[in-house]
Amino acid sequence: MRRNVSQVIGYTLEQCLSPRVHNALFAPSLPLRYTKGRNDTIDSFDGRKRWLHGTATLAQKPRGVQLSSERFPQLKRGDFARVTDSDLQVFERLVPSRVLTDLEDIEGHNVDWSGTCRGDGQVLLRPKTTEEVSAVLRYCSGRRLAVVPQGGNTGLVGGSVPVFDEVIISLSLMDNIISLDEISGVLVCQAGCVVDKINGALEPHGLMTPHILGSKGSCQIGGNISTNAGGLRMLRYGNLHGNVLGVEAVLANGDVVDCMSTLRKDNTGYDLKQLFIGSEGSLGVVTAASLLCPRVPAAVSVALLGCDSFAQVLQTYNAAKRMLQEILSAVEFMDRASMEVVQENLHLTCPLGTHSYYLLVETSGSNAAHDEEKLNSLLGHVMEKGIVDDGTVATEPSKVQTLWALRENVAVALRADGCVYKYDVTVPMSRFYDLVADTRKRMGTDVTRVVGYRHLGESDIHLNVTCPQNSEDVFGALEPWVYDWVAKYKGSVSAEHGMGILKRDYLYHSNTGSAVLLMKQLKKLMDPKGILNPYKVFPD
Ligand code: FAD
Ligand code: MLT
Ligand code: ZN
Repeated sequence: MRRNVSQVIGYTLEQCLSPRVHNALFAPSLPLRYTKGRNDTIDSFDGRKRWLHGTATLAQKPRGVQLSSERFPQLKRGDFARVTDSDLQVFERLVPSRVLTDLEDIEGHNVDWSGTCRGDGQVLLRPKTTEEVSAVLRYCSGRRLAVVPQGGNTGLVGGSVPVFDEVIISLSLMDNIISLDEISGVLVCQAGCVVDKINGALEPHGLMTPHILGSKGSCQIGGNISTNAGGLRMLRYGNLHGNVLGVEAVLANGDVVDCMSTLRKDNTGYDLKQLFIGSEGSLGVVTAASLLCPRVPAAVSVALLGCDSFAQVLQTYNAAKRMLQEILSAVEFMDRASMEVVQENLHLTCPLGTHSYYLLVETSGSNAAHDEEKLNSLLGHVMEKGIVDDGTVATEPSKVQTLWALRENVAVALRADGCVYKYDVTVPMSRFYDLVADTRKRMGTDVTRVVGYRHLGESDIHLNVTCPQNSEDVFGALEPWVYDWVAKYKGSVSAEHGMGILKRDYLYHSNTGSAVLLMKQLKKLMDPKGILNPYKVFPD
């Protein structure tokens, strides 16, 4: 049976999973084929909806997701036009045969990955070129039609889907790699390229993207740029503000801004591309980018360590920085509840016994023997000092991947609990676990679980609270309490996922009035009619 991908939001879940987990989750007798093309279809050969063992409800989830306009009744539709038949005729001329109006086809694009936000978009446009994006925006601006740019729809703050009936502009068909300079490591591509595809193209040249994230099978470089995605390699390679060398974007009025530099050094005037990095589709639609790509390290090793106190976690982190220095490439943190959820919901196996906290330490270097020796000597040191209670080291690529899967798939595993309230905040290093512990105390037995995991090198903490379905009581107990907690310690209410619709009311918690004023002035200048991703980023 052939089904439109948009009928089954679970496709995004499948696409996000690392291949190994994917194999474990999908029965061998149920081959699934994902065909990227005009209609993005998944063929399920026995016709059954089955996405996760024991969690069949996931596939039905989009239909149960409340409309954002109902969930957030304080939101009022802006003064925008509604799409008419004559608009559809114009769209058909601008992007021939790539105008989708069948609600079944659009459904998956109206609901976000975590099944929290649901828009009522009636039209989805699939441009293939910058010129088409420009023509569409010029027209929408003239007609005062609101739009939402959409990449892989893996965003976690409800920014990628409409709130009301905004026109969805999907970048998925803009997925051409334009050029690669092997010497400088600069790749130029269209914005709709999926991260996995980019890495596939880089690999034969011994290169890789500077960023990698659990959603790499679906998220697009344009979406990554628009959210300034962090991910698992940030400790080593820094964030996209440093690694994106050039951006091409289309403004609300259809003008194309060409900042497609491929130079690492360029101090000629304002660095305008930075405006598009992290602006969540509110200032322009990113249509192409140039990216600085590092070499694939010759040797990668990973250690998984178990600690039983928070003080030990901090000591281990310090020891890893001191003893591994130039080869340290990632330090990730999971608490026991995070490890439990990947085991219970995804059936992954942790090679260590039960501990309060786990650290995943990765090294990347050019000499396998040297790196392994350093990692083993770290392990010996922390065990001898009693800082770490248990640990294992992997150097073989498949075993390295197996350890990474435990951390990369926490988000996917949590989703299988039903409803997830996600908080991605930055708080001072010494306090970061207090937030999880305080939340656990506050929520008691009213929720399924409270978990904390993080990119340890970057001071953020992913606090997630799950329950079987959305509950006003749980939500009311969490917000604004979590954000007030973060503000009290002068943290940031969004470390890496952005503001979207879910966090916009807390923009002032982490920004001064003068900073927000300048943001609003920039928005007004670049999008005077406010048609680009309205209702997002800023509180009313
Ligand atoms: P979308 O979700 O489609 O859109 C995100 C935002 O960007 C929206 O506001 C949208 O309007 C805008 N946008 C998208 N494309 C464009 C464009 N071309 N031009 C202008 N605006 C655009 N995030 C991290 O930072 N680090 C992680 O480690 C991480 N891990 C994740 C793991 C999983 C399993 C999942 C589901 C998500 C994870 N995320 C992570 C969140 C998410 O994947 C990132 O925010 C990602 O960058 C979104 O890319 P996307 O293409 O899916 O964008
Ligand atoms: C992660 O670090 O796994 C991602 O940011 C996703 C999440 O926070 O759940
Ligand atoms: Zn993260």
